Amino acid sequence: MLNRLADQGIKATTVVLDPWYRDKDARGRVAYLTETVPLIEAASRVAGHVFIWGFPEAVARLIDHTPPSLKLEGWLTWYFKNAPSRSKSWRPSQQACLHLRHPKAPMYPEHFYAERHREPARHNRLEFKMTPYSVFEEALLSGFIKRSEQTGFRWQKPESVIAPLLRMTTKPGDLVIDPTAGSGTTGAVAIKLGCAVILSDGNATALKTARMRLRD
Ligand SMILES: C[S@@+](CC[C@H](N)C(=O)[O-])C[C@H]1O[C@@H](n2cnc3c(N)ncnc32)[C@H](O)[C@@H]1O
Repeated sequence: MLNRLADQGIKATTVVLDPWYRDKDARGRVAYLTETVPLIEAASRVAGHVFIWGFPEAVARLIDHTPPSLKLEGWLTWYFKNAPSRSKSWRPSQQACLHLRHPKAPMYPEHFYAERHREPARHNRLEFKMTPYSVFEEALLSGFIKRSEQTGFRWQKPESVIAPLLRMTTKPGDLVIDPTAGSGTTGAVAIKLGCAVILSDGNATALKTARMRLRD
């Protein structure tokens, strides 16, 4: 899908990638890099900002395999406290996200400033402007947590984990793409921010869930 859009000359602002983390393919070979690197390369053909989510140990391997046109802008972390406990080891409580950026792609840290800091300075005062943290704390969607948001899709991310990515890189009217859309979280956030969005997914159940979620 990404390559087709690139061939048609479609330009987006931001691509969000949240593929499965598969360490081994059906024959037991390590498949993560061979599946994911082409996805990032295709994304770099259509957008100046590419985000890719995964477990930290997987995502870390991508850093040395990113397309030359994109630089590592940031390592983002989603920290969740409500992961199930493990009896004999560390309790997994994070996912990582690489922010890869074309050097000329604009960023909008001002979208996070307090209201008074968005106005042109009235005095020549140097004021501290808050930019967002690179760690987002938000519970996994399960049980009674943010039930109104839950679609039942097992791998659904909370909207508050995708929102900072789009607020930092887009303005209303921009185009966002998520070819691993799952339940459509990127779509829900993009629409709320006034962006256009193209979603796709290889899984029919995911597409049905995203359609139901975004139909209004
Ligand atoms: C972790 S889920 C995405 C969850 C999504 N961010 C959400 O909040 O609902 C991964 C999705 O990527 C899709 N996917 C993984 N690899 C794909 C590929 N190569 N082509 C198309 N879809 C793919 C899967 O079908 C699955 O729905």
